[in-house]
Amino acid sequence: MRMHSSGPESNAPVIELQNVTKIYQMGRVQVHALRGVSLIIERGEYVAIIGASGSGKSTLMNIIGLLDRPTSGAYRLNGVDVAQLGKGRLADVRNREIGFVFQRFHLLPRTTAQRQVELPLFYAGVRGKVAKRRALDALMQVRLGERVDHRPDELSGGQQQRVAIARALVMRPSILLADEPTGALDSQTGREVLALFRELNEAGITVIVVTHDQGVASQAQRIVALRDGAIISDAPSRTISSTQFASASGDAAHHRFQEVGV
Ligand SMILES: Nc1ncnc2c1ncn2[C@@H]1O[C@H](COP(=O)(O)OP(=O)(O)O)[C@@H](O)[C@H]1O
Ligand SMILES: [Mg+2]
Repeated sequence: MRMHSSGPESNAPVIELQNVTKIYQMGRVQVHALRGVSLIIERGEYVAIIGASGSGKSTLMNIIGLLDRPTSGAYRLNGVDVAQLGKGRLADVRNREIGFVFQRFHLLPRTTAQRQVELPLFYAGVRGKVAKRRALDALMQVRLGERVDHRPDELSGGQQQRVAIARALVMRPSILLADEPTGALDSQTGREVLALFRELNEAGITVIVVTHDQGVASQAQRIVALRDGAIISDAPSRTISSTQFASASGDAAHHRFQEVGV
C-alpha cells in the first residue's frame, strides 16, 4: 500500500466518501451531524464547502482530514480505505498527506515561526539541518522569510495565518484543508491568503476550503453546499448566482444574527 501516491500512477480519486454519516452522542441526545454524504474529489481540484452554521462543514472537514472517523459509510483516501488503518498509521498518513489551516490559526504561543513549521517534520522523523532548511523554504514560500524568529504575538493576523499555511505545507501534502481560513482576517489580508491558495492549487495541491464568503468560494472551481448534514448542491462555482450562494450558505440568517448582535 502506497499512501504517498501523489504521482500520476494513481488513478483513484484523492477523496472518495460513500454514504458517510456522523452521529454525536450528547448524553441521551443524538446529533446527526452528517446524514449520508457521498463525495468524490479528484486530484488537483479546488472545492469550496458552504452551508449555514451547524450544517456539518467542520465535521466533514475533520473526517476528510482524518481527525475524526465516520459513524458509518466509507472513506477512501488516495484509494485506501482509511477504516483499515490503525491509530499510528492514521496519524502518519494525516501528517504526510494533509495540511490543515484553521480560522484561528492554532499556533503555539511563545514559539517562533521557524519552530512551528518544523514541528510536523519532527513528527515525521525529519530533524536537524534538513528540517531547518525545509521549514525555511516553506516560510519563504508564504513570503515570511524575514519573520522566522517571530512569535505569534509579534505577528499580524495575516502573518500568523501564513505561518499556519507554511506549517500545513512543509510536509508537501497532497491535500490542503482550510476551515474558514479568512474568517478572522481583514479583507486585504484575506485576499493575500487566497492568492496563496490559488498558487498552491496551480502547483497541484487539492484544496478544500470551508467558507461563508462568496469571494472566497468563487475562487474554487466547484462549490458543495451542505444543509442539515447532507449535500444539497454540488456545482461549478461559475454557475452559482449570488442569491443561490446566500441562500445555500445561510448568509441571510448569519447577517440577521449579526445585526442583533448575537
Ligand atoms: N464534538 C461534538 N459533539 C457533539 N456535537 C457536535 C460536535 N461537533 C459538532 N457537533 C454538532 O454537529 C452539528 C454540525 O456541526 P459542525 O460540523 O461544527 O457544523 P458547521 O461547521 O457547519 O458549523 C452541529 O449541530 C453541532 O452542534
Ligand atoms: Mg464549522
